[in-house]
Amino acid sequence: MKIRVATTNLHKLEEISHILSPFGIEVEKLEAEKTEVQHEDVAVIARKAAESLCRHYGDFTVVEDTGLYIDALSGFPGPYAEYVYRTIGIEGVLKLLSGVEDRRATFTCAAAICISGVVKVFTGSSRGVIAERPRGTGGFGYDPIFIPEGYTSTFAELGVEKNKISHRARAFTALGVWLSKEFKY
Ligand code: IMP
Repeated sequence: MKIRVATTNLHKLEEISHILSPFGIEVEKLEAEKTEVQHEDVAVIARKAAESLCRHYGDFTVVEDTGLYIDALSGFPGPYAEYVYRTIGIEGVLKLLSGVEDRRATFTCAAAICISGVVKVFTGSSRGVIAERPRGTGGFGYDPIFIPEGYTSTFAELGVEKNKISHRARAFTALGVWLSKEFKY
């Protein structure tokens, strides 16, 4: 079985392929412009984008959207994580948290898939804390400053171990379980 994921982020594609390979699911990159509605819930954003993409690209089209919700900032940047990363960046986020003791944060990933014109959304979250400074060279995005619960290393230091415990692992494992049951391949 093959799914097509609408993303330009090769790191995400690599992680998704890694997570879905035990299910025998192949992951292909789909070059397509996503429409992104504004909403605080990434599940709603992914669903809306998938609804519009599947009209053009049909079944097994997948849209993935991820947000980073920082407790002490009332959930900021949430679904605006991409914009914040491109503008103030990791250093800017660390500045916002300078002197802040409560560094808890949640990554949430939503994976929306289109089957027979109907969109199904799977979500996964990963709770953790924002590090005091960037650490590690693996991963991408906010990985150098996110320490998942139960660990002392950042996602960037964990390497492929990230794919066992991340928000993306949880969302796409749920998708893989569902696809393998639904299609009994
Ligand atoms: P989007 O889902 O591509 O919109 O991602 C939003 C922002 O969060 C981007 O700046 C990504 O680089 C970052 N991001 C998404 N997923 C992850 C992750 O697993 N680790 C670290 N940063 C991520």
